[in-house]
Amino acid sequence: MTRILGLSGSLRRHSFNSGLLRAAAQAMPAGVVLDIGSIAEIPLYDGDVEAAGIPAAVAALKERVAQADALLLVSPEYNNGIPGVLKNAIDWASRPAVDIARVFGGKPVALIGATPGGFGTVLAQTAWLPVLRQLMLNYWSGSRLLVSHAGEVFRDGALEDAEVRERLRLFLAGFVEFARLLRDSPPSTALHE
Ligand SMILES: Cc1cc2nc3c(=O)[nH]c(=O)nc-3n(C[C@H](O)[C@H](O)[C@H](O)COP(=O)(O)O)c2cc1C
Repeated sequence: MTRILGLSGSLRRHSFNSGLLRAAAQAMPAGVVLDIGSIAEIPLYDGDVEAAGIPAAVAALKERVAQADALLLVSPEYNNGIPGVLKNAIDWASRPAVDIARVFGGKPVALIGATPGGFGTVLAQTAWLPVLRQLMLNYWSGSRLLVSHAGEVFRDGALEDAEVRERLRLFLAGFVEFARLLRDSPPSTALHE
C-alpha cells in the first residue's frame, strides 16, 4: 500500500483546488490511498508561539507528512506566486528546522493546481520549487498538471471534464511510479542529514 498525503492550499468552501484534490483521490492507481489533509487549523506563524511550543495542529500536520510515502500539493496561484496560507502551513511544518530531514527529507512531492485563469497556476508551481528544494523534498518533474479555466471544468466542486480527469489520472500514475521507486530503492539517508 502506498500512502500519499494531499494538501489543498485553499480554505474556500467551493475551492477548485480542493475539488482537484478530491478528484485526485478518486483517480489514484490501485494500491494507493490519498489521505486528504487540511491546513485550516494551522495558525499564522509566530516565532513567539513557536518558542512556547509547537501548536497541536502543526505537530499533527508534521506527523501526517512524516508518515506519508509522498506529498501532493494542490496549490492555487496568488499574484503569480505561492498562496500565503499554504506557504504558512509548510513553513510551520518546517519548524524546528532540525526536524526537516525527518519530516520532509527525501520525500517525493508533486504539485498540481487549478485556476479560473488561462495559465493553470504555472507561475505558482515554479515559485514553489526553491521551497521544495530547501526542505530536501524530491520534486517529481516528469509531467505537469495545469488546470486552467476551472470555472468550465468543475461543476458543484466536482471535476467534470473528462479530458482533465484523464490528464490527472496519467499525472498521478507517473508520480506514484516515481514515489514507489524512491521508496523501494531510497538513496542513502546521509544525503538528507
Ligand atoms: C489574492 C489573489 C490573487 C490571485 N492571483 C492570481 C494569479 O496570479 N493567477 C491566477 O491564475 N489566479 C489568481 N487568482 C485567482 C485564483 O486563481 C482564484 O481565486 C481561484 O479560484 C483560487 O483557488 P480556489 O478556487 O482553490 O480557492 C488570485 C486570487 C486571489 C484571491
